[in-house]
Amino acid sequence: MSELTEIDHVAIAVLDLDAAIAYYEQTFGCTVAHREIVEKDGVEEALLAVADSYVQLLTPTRDDSPVAKYLANQGEGLHHVGYRVADCAAALDRVKAAGHRVIDEVPRPGSRGTTVAFVHPKTAFGTLIELVQE
Ligand code: CO
Repeated sequence: MSELTEIDHVAIAVLDLDAAIAYYEQTFGCTVAHREIVEKDGVEEALLAVADSYVQLLTPTRDDSPVAKYLANQGEGLHHVGYRVADCAAALDRVKAAGHRVIDEVPRPGSRGTTVAFVHPKTAFGTLIELVQE
């Protein structure tokens, strides 16, 4: 059985959070389920429900945030995929034990009271992966 139980969210980096929210609301009838500033990461995020998953719109709150650097280098678009796991620490340990690179050596608090850890895109075929434990 897969350790990844569901797609929690697909994160999209945007320059104008309100404009991006309005796009999803008006074009697809989505509604904002949660909105939060994560000061430590320098981002503001909005989660729009899609069935049991979310589209997560992300925008930087300061110039030195990783998302600001991402936008400067890559422009707007797909930023990372968050997968739900039952045990974030165990899933992260398996990634490390397999010799793959991680960004977070240990799980840390995410938004919505979740526990999260990021896996480095370099050894994950170019995708920034977030492990999300609810
Ligand atoms: Co995320």
